[in-house]
Amino acid sequence: MEILQERIRREGRILSDTVLKVDSFLNHQVDTALALEIGREFARIFADKPVTKVLTIEASGIQFAMATGIALGVPFVYAKKKKAVTLADKVYSAPVRSFTRGEEYQVCVAQQYLGPSDKVLIVDDFLATGAALVGLVDIVREAGAELAGVGCVIEKSFQEGRGLLEEKGVRVHSLARIVSMSPGDVRFADNGSS
Ligand code: G4P
Ligand code: NA
Ligand code: NA
Repeated sequence: MEILQERIRREGRILSDTVLKVDSFLNHQVDTALALEIGREFARIFADKPVTKVLTIEASGIQFAMATGIALGVPFVYAKKKKAVTLADKVYSAPVRSFTRGEEYQVCVAQQYLGPSDKVLIVDDFLATGAALVGLVDIVREAGAELAGVGCVIEKSFQEGRGLLEEKGVRVHSLARIVSMSPGDVRFADNGSS
């Protein structure tokens, strides 16, 4: 997605070898027109699948799941992050070890909002280590729902997330695939996205 790569080049701030800040248009302040365009792009990419529900994880996946849900005309659900002790009975949950934050938490979705008749498209802002996304995939499978695939806005291809998801048989599509980054020099995969 050319317009997205352009914004990353112009406004992205590289904080370290692995962390990209995109707070001016994706992660803190949100460019609403761009978010809606991202939603339409995911809807177009996964148009061959009859998606009934979009799934993401709080917090920064929400605007893209909403945009995708609008484009597809279906609801979106965002998984909540909880400490294990506060878990209610009727939830699907999966443990996630966050590498960036160094803590473990549970991702949870109420069972009433996901079931065997659903075809689910998972959407998130970043594909990095894949820890959170693997948790969401496990929840979709636990629910007996069908998984259409995973759509990510920005993929850092030098981290292991895509490999982990593909090992689980998941179709992954990212709108901007970064193969390397250093201040002033963000490199995208040849085809930019896939
Ligand atoms: P993931 O690949 O499945 O997202 O898991 P990982 O544990 O690697 O990432 C942890 C959190 O950090 C995720 O946010 C992810 O979106 C975010 N993240 C990873 N790399 C970057 C980066 O380079 N820049 C920015 N800005 N964020 C990054 P989260 O758990 O969904 O939390 P939240 O921020 O949405 O609340
Ligand atoms: Na995220
Ligand atoms: Na995030």
